[in-house]
Amino acid sequence: MKRRAFIQLAGGGVVAAAVPGLSGCSTAIPPEAVAAWQGPPPGAEVREWILAHAILAPHSHNLQSWLVDLRTPEQIMLYCDPQRLLPQTDPQSRQIMMSHGTFLELLDMAAREKGLRADIELFPEGAFAADRIDRRPVARVRLVADANVKRDPLFAQVFRRRTNREPYADQSLPLEATAGIAQAVKDYPVRVGFVGKDQPEPLARHRAIAAEAWRIELTTPRTLLESYKVLRVGPDEIATHRDGISLMAPLPRLLAALGLFDRSKAPAADDAAITGQIRDFNAKLQATPGFFWMVTEGNDRKTQVRAGQAYVRAQLAATALGLSMQPVSQALQEFPEVAGPYADIHRLLDAPQPKFTVQMWARLGYAPTIGPAPRRGLKAHILSA
Ligand SMILES: Cc1cc2nc3c(=O)[nH]c(=O)nc-3n(C[C@H](O)[C@H](O)[C@H](O)COP(=O)(O)O)c2cc1C
Repeated sequence: MKRRAFIQLAGGGVVAAAVPGLSGCSTAIPPEAVAAWQGPPPGAEVREWILAHAILAPHSHNLQSWLVDLRTPEQIMLYCDPQRLLPQTDPQSRQIMMSHGTFLELLDMAAREKGLRADIELFPEGAFAADRIDRRPVARVRLVADANVKRDPLFAQVFRRRTNREPYADQSLPLEATAGIAQAVKDYPVRVGFVGKDQPEPLARHRAIAAEAWRIELTTPRTLLESYKVLRVGPDEIATHRDGISLMAPLPRLLAALGLFDRSKAPAADDAAITGQIRDFNAKLQATPGFFWMVTEGNDRKTQVRAGQAYVRAQLAATALGLSMQPVSQALQEFPEVAGPYADIHRLLDAPQPKFTVQMWARLGYAPTIGPAPRRGLKAHILSA
């Protein structure tokens, strides 16, 4: 059924458009985009079985920059796809390296399920420079049969883990929960911390810094446009790309379908599209009952990868405890406009620069259940000869 919809345009105008039943359109991600969450295909070779789990790892902007070379038996060489970087918001590719750590950690857990020890050698041909990545491998993984290898209980959460961007319930975090998350990363070189409703003043500071950094990212044209580039609006774009940030809400879909959502230009800072997003995220932050963070001493490439390994463990532990996480990376980013919130969060978390780096900062709380995010599927990651 067609109906008329009145749409408030960026810039203030209103249009009336004949559209298919707007309120009735599905907000579910197309099944082919989330097929990877069904698990490895039957009969998969062991390395493919392992990798089918690793590709479910969290990655900044869901870019999935993992490329693997399987030409040497019992070995997986991991590379970073240089086409899948975020030069504006992640100019040093620190978050990209963390996103390789998340991948390697799930790879390790999956190998254990098969009785294999994953001997992971990071940067076997040398580490990338601090400000760029290159074509050398991120890791060489040798899989070795080992009767002493132990299964990791967190593996059970791999298919249940989500980055949850919904509003979180106004419910305090129990001590067992924060202790459980800290326990999951105790062998990793990170200092973790939590703040909750029992500390209203620091909690208010967390919310304020996160809000300010978010406002800056959204009102800085080049950083906003970088996110627009990986925005996938509606089922067709989501099914075609199976990466990036999926948007299934009716209004942006409608605007995109009508050619009214121009992703090549940044709206002005006072545009309703921007102020609305800032308002919505502020409301979520105000209701967020807690934050989690991870600080490292040093910030070299190995430390970044190790921080990513720790992050996915923390998120899996939170999942096991019924808790959700959403990183709020904006204040941790290294682009100049966000330097104020960057300094503020490092000060608040007692992480003076340059000795310490806040590698991860996330909302933490109880949230409604959501579905998984798209994945490109295993084949997209395997380098052919
Ligand atoms: C290093 C890193 C930084 C991230 N930063 C953000 C962020 O600032 N905001 C956000 O909503 N998600 C962030 N994410 C989560 C990714 O967007 C998410 O992993 C991706 O969209 C895939 O979704 P999934 O985790 O539900 O599988 C980050 C993830 C990683 C690994």
